[in-house]
Amino acid sequence: MTDSAEPVPRHVAIIIDGNGRWARKRGLPRHAGHREGMKAVREAVEGASQLGVEVLTLFAFSTENWQRPAVEVSALMSLLKHYAEREERELAAKGVQVRVLGELDRIHESARDAVASIQRSTAGGSSLRLNLMISYGGREEIVRATRRLAQRVAEGELSPDEVDEAEMERHLFTADLPDPDLLIRTSGECRLSNFMLWQLAYTEIVISPVLWPDFTRENFQEAVREFQRRDRRFGRVRTG
Ligand code: FPP
Repeated sequence: MTDSAEPVPRHVAIIIDGNGRWARKRGLPRHAGHREGMKAVREAVEGASQLGVEVLTLFAFSTENWQRPAVEVSALMSLLKHYAEREERELAAKGVQVRVLGELDRIHESARDAVASIQRSTAGGSSLRLNLMISYGGREEIVRATRRLAQRVAEGELSPDEVDEAEMERHLFTADLPDPDLLIRTSGECRLSNFMLWQLAYTEIVISPVLWPDFTRENFQEAVREFQRRDRRFGRVRTG
């Protein structure tokens, strides 16, 4: 288990990675890796719930992922639809609030109803907030927020002096969420890949060697244990 004397991270974000390599190692098509990856999504939700994490954010589909072959994009959209349909009742019963964040007008028509439905029926959940980042890019998010701020300034609603960090945060997809305390990336890669560039400023990063489809709740706990061993200073020095 984790160290009960140390704080549990309030917000854990995960960059899902390694589905393609998992499939290749088995001589399977890439979409088989994504399908198997859905088990790990359930494991991460369980791991977070068991530890009392408040917010779990999964980077499931980036704006760059639209450039993957059409058959892979369709397979991912279909997994999103099936995940939303299949998990809706159980997640609602467990009090998990699901939100899908990103440039949602690009999401395939076929997945839209299921996404709207799971968001509606889990809206009142208060045990865990689960954010699925779909068609999401960190730079695009900052540009979008800046554009909105510029509009408000142009309309005389806000003065340039009032543009500060708090105002910026109000215009991000994550407006009402704390910044992630812990970022996990699977499959051993050490990159941010355009994920939550604003919000990760002081986040602790743990790289897990495990390929996403093999990621379990125990791996989640291991990452939290590593987080608990870190000394977070937020740019300051230790006083005690
Ligand atoms: C990264 O592995 C995985 C993705 C880009 C897609 C992840 C998506 C899912 C598990 C399905 C949809 C998710 C939800 C939550 C409904 P990769 O393909 O980049 O792997 P590789 O680097 O080994 O090729």
